[in-house]
Amino acid sequence: MIIHPAKNILGSLRLPGDKSVSHRYAMLGALAQGTTRLANFSTGADCASTLACLRELGCTIRSGEDHVVEIEGRERLVSPTASLDCGNSGSTMRMLAGILAGQEFASTLHGDGSLSRRPMARVILPLRQMGARIKAADGDLPPLEIHGGTLQAIDYRMPVASAQVKSAVLFAGLQTPGETSVEEPVRTRDHTEQALRAFGVEVTRIRNRVTLHGGQKLQAIQAVVPGDVSSAAFFLCAAALFPGSNLVIENLLLNPTRASLLDVLKVLGARISIINLEERYGELVGTVKIEHGTLRGTTISGGQSVSLIDELPVLAAIAPYTQGGIEIRDARELRVKESDRIALVARNLRAMGATCDEYEDGLRVPGAQKLRGAEIDSGGDHRIAMAFAVAALRADGESTIRGAEAARISFPEFFEMLDQIAER
Ligand code: S3P
Repeated sequence: MIIHPAKNILGSLRLPGDKSVSHRYAMLGALAQGTTRLANFSTGADCASTLACLRELGCTIRSGEDHVVEIEGRERLVSPTASLDCGNSGSTMRMLAGILAGQEFASTLHGDGSLSRRPMARVILPLRQMGARIKAADGDLPPLEIHGGTLQAIDYRMPVASAQVKSAVLFAGLQTPGETSVEEPVRTRDHTEQALRAFGVEVTRIRNRVTLHGGQKLQAIQAVVPGDVSSAAFFLCAAALFPGSNLVIENLLLNPTRASLLDVLKVLGARISIINLEERYGELVGTVKIEHGTLRGTTISGGQSVSLIDELPVLAAIAPYTQGGIEIRDARELRVKESDRIALVARNLRAMGATCDEYEDGLRVPGAQKLRGAEIDSGGDHRIAMAFAVAALRADGESTIRGAEAARISFPEFFEMLDQIAER
């Protein structure tokens, strides 16, 4: 994919449904009584992987126009005849592992080359504590062979802050008699808690500890999935780069555990306003308008790095265009995402002529740097491909994104929509 520099970012968009919310609504829909109808379901390949696995587990799923997905829930999932293909999706593998741990059959979860290198001990350990038998390659890696059944409730303190792990334990707990609790070291996205409540499950939270009683019945829902805020991040960052920009994104997910990017862009100096704020099944949704302001610099660390984890690559990619640069710390998890995102961001920034320092847990990208168009390597990682398409908009000369098709993992419409809002 060739990206030409742009003169400005202008326009108004509605985005496909949020990936995190789509995965959860689909999985809970599979376990609920009745038919769940989800409009504006994520168009990404990751959520298609979740739907394909649920079909293998016996669910009837219909996909219609306007990205409507209907899922007929079932009392019990059925033993799959083949290994379940999670594709590139860590969320599918880790969260489904929690559901499968509570089912009376054996199943195997596998993924593509990238997913096969990602750590799974973080879900295997708590699910084993609950009584599931799980085998993994080299102890920690996919494929996962899960022998599920009757589990015991646990009170689990997560060593890593991961919403996927929290979700896996809560999904297992939902199928287990007694009270299951998960305590997170810092607050992670709370879509699982909100989604469980949406489906009629009582979930309580005291500070960072979430608790539910197993055996509660789920009732199907009808929902419109809010636009994906991590996809919006690319366009919001692009708009922040151009004097005279003006971009409106409607129907956007603004859950406070996901919308920290807006705070960071504000701190940097962009002008942001939010209107039409409403709550749908516990998720805040609204319209965001962003206009350019002079971008200063900032440091992102601690809990903020956790809540911005998927947005850090694009923030690092626009950092050279800020005055003061951006430093990112406490983001070691970036090294075990779809790629080693710290290494790839540093490599691609350098290819564009920028300097940056790489740390084990982050990066420091000085500001006031000029970038030149370059050959970018996505490493097969969707967020790297999209982050550098944004950086390329203000570079001198055109850039080529190798492996740009990775964008389909979360946001197949990305390049088309970018063309719509970029003035050339
Ligand atoms: C996700 C949680 C995050 C995030 C991923 C989606 C989720 O991963 O990076 O893109 O939907 O729960 P971790 O839970 O591993 O931090």
